[in-house]
Amino acid sequence: MRFSLSTLLLAVVPKVFGDKHYFFSGFFTGNMIVAIDERKRNVYVATTGQIQSYAIKSNRSLTSTSNITLSSSCQNANYIATTNASPYTVFGVAYSTGCAAQALAVDSTGALTAATANLTYNSTSGVHGLDISPDAAFVYSADDMGNAVWAHSYDRETKTAQTLQYLAAPEGANPRHLAVHPNGAWVYAIYEEANSLAVYKRDNKTGLLTDEKTTYSLLPAGFTNTSSYWADEVKFSLPTSNSTNTTTSSLTNFITSAQPKYLITGTRSRSTNATGYVSAFALDASTGAITSQLFLLPTTASGGSANAVSPALFREEYLAITDSGANFVEVWKIEREGVGASAVARLGFESGPANVVWMD
Ligand SMILES: *[C@@H]1O[C@H](CO)[C@@H](O)[C@H](O)[C@H]1NC(C)=O
Ligand SMILES: *[C@@H]1O[C@H](CO)[C@@H](O)[C@H](O)[C@H]1NC(C)=O
Ligand SMILES: *[C@@H]1O[C@H](CO)[C@@H](O)[C@H](O)[C@H]1NC(C)=O
Ligand SMILES: *[C@@H]1O[C@H](CO)[C@@H](O)[C@H](O)[C@H]1NC(C)=O
Ligand SMILES: *[C@@H]1O[C@H](CO)[C@@H](O)[C@H](O)[C@H]1NC(C)=O
Ligand SMILES: *[C@@H]1O[C@H](CO)[C@@H](O)[C@H](O)[C@H]1NC(C)=O
Ligand SMILES: *[C@@H]1O[C@H](CO)[C@@H](O)[C@H](O)[C@H]1NC(C)=O
Ligand SMILES: *[C@@H]1O[C@H](CO)[C@@H](O)[C@H](O)[C@H]1NC(C)=O
Ligand SMILES: *[C@@H]1O[C@H](CO)[C@@H](O)[C@H](O)[C@H]1NC(C)=O
Repeated sequence: MRFSLSTLLLAVVPKVFGDKHYFFSGFFTGNMIVAIDERKRNVYVATTGQIQSYAIKSNRSLTSTSNITLSSSCQNANYIATTNASPYTVFGVAYSTGCAAQALAVDSTGALTAATANLTYNSTSGVHGLDISPDAAFVYSADDMGNAVWAHSYDRETKTAQTLQYLAAPEGANPRHLAVHPNGAWVYAIYEEANSLAVYKRDNKTGLLTDEKTTYSLLPAGFTNTSSYWADEVKFSLPTSNSTNTTTSSLTNFITSAQPKYLITGTRSRSTNATGYVSAFALDASTGAITSQLFLLPTTASGGSANAVSPALFREEYLAITDSGANFVEVWKIEREGVGASAVARLGFESGPANVVWMD
């Protein structure tokens, strides 16, 4: 594997199977969390005081297209979720008490145009993560400061949001990020303080959740120092296939409609003297339910404030992990149907990467 890099939000090129693959990375210097749209035409950036859109040019450079200014009490923009169908509404949220998440409309190119609705919480809430149902009609929120999970409905015609459900999480859980299964049947949530993964069953019609009260530890058995860790990220792997162009003999990768094989999590150590952890769960191919925890492995370093996992678009077995304590992005490969995983490449930086989004 070979790396080279370019520009602003760095685009990086691991060489796998003779192909080049690119990602963009956000950095904590500037407080940049990044998201990318389904069509890979825009990068959205959460930065202090603003949510921004950038157009991706054919040479993969980025051009600023729009900035949405946040209110003075909700400057700490910390999460962005994109939707995968027209009108491609973007949702963003600032991580401070009492801040609403915002629905943000985009124009035909994907540039942000305006905030169209507030998704409201309690005055004691502080939402750190969002995800959207596959039909883009429901938004789920991980309320870290308020220790809860929320469901809102969003009507794309009237551009209005309504609070649907508030589910208090167990004491000491503190939901941070969550992920809605693409079949609409499950929401898997990271409990940051409890360092565990929690299972919520989802009604695919009403959007309502049921707490299954099932959790999986994201730390090795026997660790009594759980307050030295903070679990972070949860993402589904992306089912891929490939075809060989018989004229050019080149391999083309594409995402299929198959169900994801893996659910992948990242956990950070609060101290740089100990490693964080990465774990993967096997998912039932038809129901999307967790069938087993495949592995729980130490990451190369602590993860810093990151250890954000980002599954690759080119092969379901690959993912990126960011480390803002030791300032690198690694590419990991899940081996032999999930028996294990290891880092296969690393790129160092001068500052701490927050999260990456794959371009291809
Ligand atoms: C990429 O293309 C844009 C125009 O679309 C141009 O302004 C920019 O300089 C180019 N960047 C590089 C690195 O070639
Ligand atoms: C958005 O804000 C950034 C940073 O302040 C600035 O460089 C950029 O020109 C702005 N973009 C637009 C479209 O106003
Ligand atoms: C969202 O809430 C803010 C603060 O209360 C308010 O200024 C803004 O008008 C609201 N936006 C919408 C679209 O209702
Ligand atoms: C938060 O809001 C929900 C729904 O309105 C309510 O049921 C709950 O009691 C509130 N919790 C706190 C701590 O305010
Ligand atoms: C859930 O609803 C979506 C959108 O209506 C549909 O595409 C999907 O097949 C449904 N999933 C299940 C498990 O029925
Ligand atoms: C893709 O191509 C590689 C290399 O030829 C092959 O090993 C792999 O099984 C193919 N299929 C998928 C789903 O990646
Ligand atoms: C294979 O590559 C050639 C040359 O780039 C292109 O013209 C052709 O459309 C490709 N075939 C397929 C099936 O994608
Ligand atoms: C790491 O440092 C913390 C204090 O920051 C300390 O409590 C802990 O025991 C140390 N762990 C190891 C394995 O040295
Ligand atoms: C927590 O405890 C485990 C087991 O004793 C030890 O290996 C690890 O280094 C500790 N972590 C920290 C952050 O001190």
